[in-house]
Amino acid sequence: MIPTPHINVSKEGMIAETVLLPGDPLRAKYIAENYLDDAVQFNAVRNMFGYTGTYKGKKISVMGTGMGMPSIGIYSYELINFYKVKNLIRIGSCGSMQPDLKVHDIVIGLSASTNSNYAIQYGLPGTYAPTASYDLVKKVVDIADKKGIKVRVGNILSSDTFYDASDSWRKWAKMGVLAVEMEAAALYMNAAFAGANALCILTVSDSLVNGEETTSEERQNSFTQMMELALESA
Ligand code: HPA
Repeated sequence: MIPTPHINVSKEGMIAETVLLPGDPLRAKYIAENYLDDAVQFNAVRNMFGYTGTYKGKKISVMGTGMGMPSIGIYSYELINFYKVKNLIRIGSCGSMQPDLKVHDIVIGLSASTNSNYAIQYGLPGTYAPTASYDLVKKVVDIADKKGIKVRVGNILSSDTFYDASDSWRKWAKMGVLAVEMEAAALYMNAAFAGANALCILTVSDSLVNGEETTSEERQNSFTQMMELALESA
């Protein structure tokens, strides 16, 4: 096994079959230090930290993806195709596009619409619908029900822009799309193309509807619930 351009791992078994994927590499470090037992760092290329440890005895990795579809596209591609990762669970934040979806709420991305051209590489004769793994969706919803954690499951928007020149989000909102983030569609497409399973769990960090934002302290609480869901689903 030779290291990939972005992941410096040359030994089999250093990356688990299931990887949690926060956007922020320091969040990956935090998760490894606070949630995993016996975590060992496997990557630091471009400071995109990755760790493998165990959670309740199960081997799990956690690695940053960076922001946006090109970035998560690279890391998820290498994890799936070179390191045989089977389950990829993105954990991130999103902006609400619906009045009844409030900051701190948890969203499961059943599908990910996008304004990006990422799908063009597949040369499909139509519009592809990037979709989460049903098995992972079912698992996380069952766990949320059991723990009494409220989740919203539906279509999300993976946008190429955080700062957008138009208010086109309203058109996506009209189509029932719940929230906007910047990575899920590429993750779902890479997983589909290579036969892996992907899921995206998000906490609402801000609202496009009313401008509400979370403080970093408030964010921690919904982050903890999201982590519980991700780790139990892993
Ligand atoms: N837009 C895009 N990505 C995001 C947002 C947003 O408002 N909030 C959190 N991630």
